[in-house]
Amino acid sequence: MAKIRAGVLGATGAVGQRFIEQLWDHPWFELTSLAASERSAGKRYSEAARWRLEHDLPAEVADMTVVNVDPKEVKADVVFSALPADEAKKVEAEFAKAGFAVASNASAYRAEPDVPLLIPECNADHLDLVEVQQRKRDWDGYIVTNPNCTTIMFALTLKPLMPMDIQRVIVASMQAVSGAGYEGVPSMAILGNIIPFISGEEEKVEQEAQKILGTFDGERIVDAPFTVSASCHRVPVMDGHTEAIWAEMAADPTPDEVRAAFLNFNPGLGDLPTEPKRPIIVRDEPDRPQPRLDRNAGKGMAVSVGRIREGIRYIAMGHNTVRGAAGASVLNAEILSKKGML
Ligand SMILES: NC(=O)c1ccc[n+]([C@@H]2O[C@H](COP(=O)([O-])OP(=O)(O)OC[C@H]3O[C@@H](n4cnc5c(N)ncnc54)[C@H](OP(=O)(O)O)[C@@H]3O)[C@@H](O)[C@H]2O)c1
Repeated sequence: MAKIRAGVLGATGAVGQRFIEQLWDHPWFELTSLAASERSAGKRYSEAARWRLEHDLPAEVADMTVVNVDPKEVKADVVFSALPADEAKKVEAEFAKAGFAVASNASAYRAEPDVPLLIPECNADHLDLVEVQQRKRDWDGYIVTNPNCTTIMFALTLKPLMPMDIQRVIVASMQAVSGAGYEGVPSMAILGNIIPFISGEEEKVEQEAQKILGTFDGERIVDAPFTVSASCHRVPVMDGHTEAIWAEMAADPTPDEVRAAFLNFNPGLGDLPTEPKRPIIVRDEPDRPQPRLDRNAGKGMAVSVGRIREGIRYIAMGHNTVRGAAGASVLNAEILSKKGML
């Protein structure tokens, strides 16, 4: 099978680099275009970007020439967007109009009623919204988004609890510095410190899970009927968002019943290359999950949970730039491919 041509928009940034890491030797996708701002366009990738990941930049990628985020310059069938939200609003629409499939990591279109906000293990059926989107907007291509990096960790864990009738969710996040991008939080501000404010984060976290866990009625998503209350905090951790969660459910399950629901959660998407064997990993040790020990579970795509207590209270933790960003978009594109939508 010929590989699907893949481009990255915002390829030089923190999430863009994670996209390259995920895509450069992907079995289904071939990395054919890297795009960034006019500051980078025209340069070799290795000159335009300061590679900051643990693995070396592959030589083939280092030699690629960065292009502008312009549909005429990008040669691809699917583009992965890691652009800042304001730029994404304009650029992603241009690409969708020009016939590209856009797998976006930016927040610009997540709340739009005709745009899927996808976690393949939770709501793959919401991809039927794409037809509505193309009809309404007269686009040849389309946009599919993945959730905010904090939302994705707890929304995934709520999916197996939905039959227990979730009424209210409270989440307190402890978010890694990589979530703000390389230049995002000065080391002088965060070392030995906690910053109890992340601009715009609580608003996103309080709205997205209801759409993800809602139902598609043929024309739109009807939100799941629970409320979310969030308090978001930046902590001096490099990678890995940890969340303390309180989930109130009408069925009033015991901690053992919740643990069993997590253990039995097996959405079985069908061997997608980026799909973790188990999307939710239960840790029974009293001091797990921890970001340094658990963020790479399932190659960074699994969410680890632990400390399941009466209430129901538990801890969830996952890799924010993999499961919470680039890996999430790549998994979305894999399910698009499996459904014949690329
Ligand atoms: N970091 C995370 O964990 C995380 C998680 C979830 C979602 N997100 C979202 O992902 C997106 C990218 O985040 P990031 O942390 O990777 O940001 P970043 O490190 O600042 O990278 C931004 C990228 O966008 C490009 N860019 C900036 N302005 C542009 C413009 N006017 N035209 C074209 N390209 C432009 C930059 O290119 P140059 O190098 O040429 O300037 C760079 O490639 C944001 O929407 C963010 O909210 C991030």
